Amino acid sequence: MTQLPGLLDTEAIRKDFPVLDRLVHDDKKLVYLDNAATSQKPRQVLDALSEYYERYNANVHRGVHVLAEEATALYEGARDKVATFINAPSRDEVIFTKNASESLNLVANMLGWADEPYRVDHETEIVITEMEHHSNIVPWQLLSQRTGAKLKWFGLTDDGRLDLSNINEVINEKTKIVSFVLVSNILGTFNPVEAIVRRAQEVGALVLIDASQAAPHMPLDVQALQADFVAFTGHKMCGPTGIGVLWGRQELLEDLPPFLGGGEMIETVSMHSSTYAPAPHKFEAGTPPIAQAVGLGAAIDYLSAIGMEKIAAHEHALTEYAVKRLQEVPDLKIIGPTTAEDRGAAISFTLGDIHPHDVGQVLDEQGIAVRVGHHCARPVCLRYGIPATTRASFYLYSTPGEIDALVEGLEHVRNFFG
Ligand code: ALA
Repeated sequence: MTQLPGLLDTEAIRKDFPVLDRLVHDDKKLVYLDNAATSQKPRQVLDALSEYYERYNANVHRGVHVLAEEATALYEGARDKVATFINAPSRDEVIFTKNASESLNLVANMLGWADEPYRVDHETEIVITEMEHHSNIVPWQLLSQRTGAKLKWFGLTDDGRLDLSNINEVINEKTKIVSFVLVSNILGTFNPVEAIVRRAQEVGALVLIDASQAAPHMPLDVQALQADFVAFTGHKMCGPTGIGVLWGRQELLEDLPPFLGGGEMIETVSMHSSTYAPAPHKFEAGTPPIAQAVGLGAAIDYLSAIGMEKIAAHEHALTEYAVKRLQEVPDLKIIGPTTAEDRGAAISFTLGDIHPHDVGQVLDEQGIAVRVGHHCARPVCLRYGIPATTRASFYLYSTPGEIDALVEGLEHVRNFFG
């Protein structure tokens, strides 16, 4: 068995994840390498979900009965856990949403409806990058169409990094918001936060960071990032689907208008007008994803007990190994950085002229789960002139043996297609 320095005790960790024991296609051992799409869930999270429904289920913030109070304490307790996990200065800066897409759309809509000095209008500019997930492109296109604001973006270098050579021109005095991904879901690239934030601060623009592919994999400190907003999702970090987070600086959340109206986000309502509850409730209209927040809290407990530094070191060792092994496969080309230093554990590649969908299907027949397609980042595929990629992505339970299985699987794909 291949041993690498810095690996976690995956034998013990894998026992927590029931699905990893599954066989697929009758007798094939599951090799789950689609963690950037969604992670698997440990028993501790599954238990927290069923315990919540078996013992506490009630609506939150509304009841005087025991169950309502207990459910509220669990839901708000999950908010405390998120705040600690991301080093937020205040728990009131943590807004629960249904996923990262909703978090990103929420900021776009806050700014679209805001008064000065935050208002995005036809005299202002929005800055994103060419490596964004569609969820950090489309909301800004919608906002641009609605307000007339100009949408600009940083392009990509040939080796899968942001081209910041024109940073002073792209981010300028007209820029209202710079929204970019911390770790690319398709290229794996770690982006240079400091340089972008520094320039945005020089011109007084707000900064939103999409940390969907970072929060599960490394320590995330929103104060160190110095952004104004940070978005991520629960299901990629061992939590359930249906729960996302938007962190925002308190004074901004106080000043900015809500997007969705409804129950629990108000202070008073008359037939003529309403006043709003303080943040975070102002941004959480209606019955929130209660069980999902509780599940996310359990996922945070689970990851924190192992340690995010250790998880990052594990993935770094795996990434280094995978980049090396994959490059031994003839005709395989990694799309994105080929050094493990500035990339995460999602590795996209092409294999000669074999279509990624064919690669994915032949791997699947061997029990190996990868994602194929444009990974909701189609502009990246357009930039590199490819229709799609195959992407293998690792997590805390992934092993070097699974990377070996992937490499063998790819040899099989090559033989299959001659
Ligand atoms: N955004 C997820 C991915 O990259 C779904 O696969």
